[in-house]
Amino acid sequence: MQSKFEQLKTEALLAIKSVSDKIQLEDLENKLLGRKSGELTNLMKGLKDLTDDARKVIGVVANEVKKDIEMAFANKKNELLNLDWAAAVEKERVDITQPTLPHSERGTFHPNTIIQKDLEDFFTSMGFVVLDGPELESDFFNFTAVNVPENHPARDMQDTFYIKNHPGMVMRTHTSSMQVRSMLKQGAPLRAIVPGKCYRNEATDPRHEHTFYQLEGFVIDEHITFAHMKGVLEAVAKHLYGADTQVRLRPKYYPFVEPGVNGEVTCFICKGKGCRVCKNTGWLEIFGAGMIHPNVLKEGKVDAGRYQGFAFGLGLTRLAMLKYGIEDIRHLESGDLKFLKQF
Ligand code: DAH
Repeated sequence: MQSKFEQLKTEALLAIKSVSDKIQLEDLENKLLGRKSGELTNLMKGLKDLTDDARKVIGVVANEVKKDIEMAFANKKNELLNLDWAAAVEKERVDITQPTLPHSERGTFHPNTIIQKDLEDFFTSMGFVVLDGPELESDFFNFTAVNVPENHPARDMQDTFYIKNHPGMVMRTHTSSMQVRSMLKQGAPLRAIVPGKCYRNEATDPRHEHTFYQLEGFVIDEHITFAHMKGVLEAVAKHLYGADTQVRLRPKYYPFVEPGVNGEVTCFICKGKGCRVCKNTGWLEIFGAGMIHPNVLKEGKVDAGRYQGFAFGLGLTRLAMLKYGIEDIRHLESGDLKFLKQF
């Protein structure tokens, strides 16, 4: 019996040595040491039939054989693991002597984004916060809350896209839709700008596009007057077009303000003399503004007896077109790289 153990050991050690992967090794381990019918296990089971004296001697041999085989398995496992590691490291090796790959092209900011970031910096320097709002907006915040009730003719000025199966939802036509939302959320006093994408149902041409950008702004506090509004808008105009820029305000109807104005700046190209860009008027219209209508403050749960405010809407897309001399608004949403790479 002793020789049987020794023979098994010799065969086992040879077999283990020749194994080259984990699965083979597991199979072999099962074949030799498996609890139910491993070859060594079976041989060990025979020990119980020996005489006490023989069992003492052969038992020692059997245990040695078992230990040696187990040790051989453990060593082989380690060896295979190290091989795995070496393979993994080799796979991830970086050849630092390899010449660099050509640089992939870097993108640039969209002209609207350039203007938006510049104005965000400017307004935050004056204590405004920058707010973001939903482009898919409720009819209520886009129109009703800013004093444009259902069936009011002013809705004709801003036809938009109504969403199938979502009654009462529209693509916002202006960022003024954030006025009442932010009053309800933040309360007064409030000093904020809302840059963002707007939509209108337009027959597109070089000056009209269904998708464009605006920057709405509003200030609500005690004792706010028309003069504050003019001061802020003059500061914006001078920031955009230089210290000698003048601002002209002329009455215009906007439902959400009273009084409302249309704001123009001296043409920065001809300095007011008259040119093609300003259509020989010397002035460029760049915003609408006014004192916030008390109805709008009420919708925002702001105490209209205590607080006043002004609001203004700048056409970001229009500013970008003026700044860069873009002759057709449709370039801006075209995604055309030949156009976009110029900025
Ligand atoms: N929401 C207006 C538009 O899209 C622009 C505007 C005009 C905003 C006057 C204002 C404002 O806040 O007071 O045409």
